[in-house]
Amino acid sequence: MKIIIGPASKELATKIADFTGYEKVNVISKKFPDGEVYVRLEDNVKDANVAIVQTTSPPQNSNFLQLAFIASAAKLAGAKKIIGITPYLAYARQDKIFLQGENRSIETIANMIKASGVDEIITINVHQENVLKRFSIPTKNLSAIPLLAKYFKQRGYNEVFSLAPDKGARYIAEQAKKVLGGECGHLEKTRDRYTGKLSVSKKNFNVKGKTAIIFDDIISTGGTIVNAAKILLDLGAVRVFAACVHPLLIGDAEDRILNAGVEEVIGTDSVPSHFSKVSLSPLISQEIRAQESG
Ligand code: R5P
Repeated sequence: MKIIIGPASKELATKIADFTGYEKVNVISKKFPDGEVYVRLEDNVKDANVAIVQTTSPPQNSNFLQLAFIASAAKLAGAKKIIGITPYLAYARQDKIFLQGENRSIETIANMIKASGVDEIITINVHQENVLKRFSIPTKNLSAIPLLAKYFKQRGYNEVFSLAPDKGARYIAEQAKKVLGGECGHLEKTRDRYTGKLSVSKKNFNVKGKTAIIFDDIISTGGTIVNAAKILLDLGAVRVFAACVHPLLIGDAEDRILNAGVEEVIGTDSVPSHFSKVSLSPLISQEIRAQESG
């Protein structure tokens, strides 16, 4: 197995190569003046199984094209099996036709990934597991929630209240509770498909005097976390943290979240940023090692 260091996930890919001891394959990448992307594999992949580590967080379109071009270059160079590791899988939230005239973006992405030569996809906390049914190649979805929860535990937080901001993320709060103890719960959230406006129904959680951690798969605009934090603070929580697997935090999301009373935002290196305090490298390394030896 060789680890191809995708330009969008250089640090994570390097950590995975170091963790597993597998050889690194570097990629030269550049953007032409008109915006087109270019990649070239610097090392030989002939007859090797390769894992391309390349997240598809913003700028998702060029990161996605780099992944496809790298896979196709690896195929042309004679790689045997090509695993695409996309910690953040872009377009996974458009998995259905919500309004007439839309497309299922993730299905189109799945077809393009396969066409580029990828034989299997490994991703982390994809927005909804069902999305992976749109792929006609094998897929694996791993959860980084235990790693995030362990991070809090190591900092001394125990018996906290773990909150999922919507029903779909309930499993996330349950996984966190397994590590942290305490209680967990979820909110009911709906989003207007035309305006994007969120509405959240209140619940009577027992958080008075407690530390609460909101766990989610993605933080994008921060709206979901802001609403959830307000509810927890209204109910008497004394400290509120936010944790997510994919810290996109677009625009002024961080300020909005901190202004809503959240003490700190913790994310993984799925989306490299100053929130990335938890690395996915052990999780991904164990998976590819198990595949290679099995
Ligand atoms: C949605 O169901 C996801 O799990 C996240 O809650 C959502 O994508 C977060 O988006 P935002 O930060 O824009 O509210």
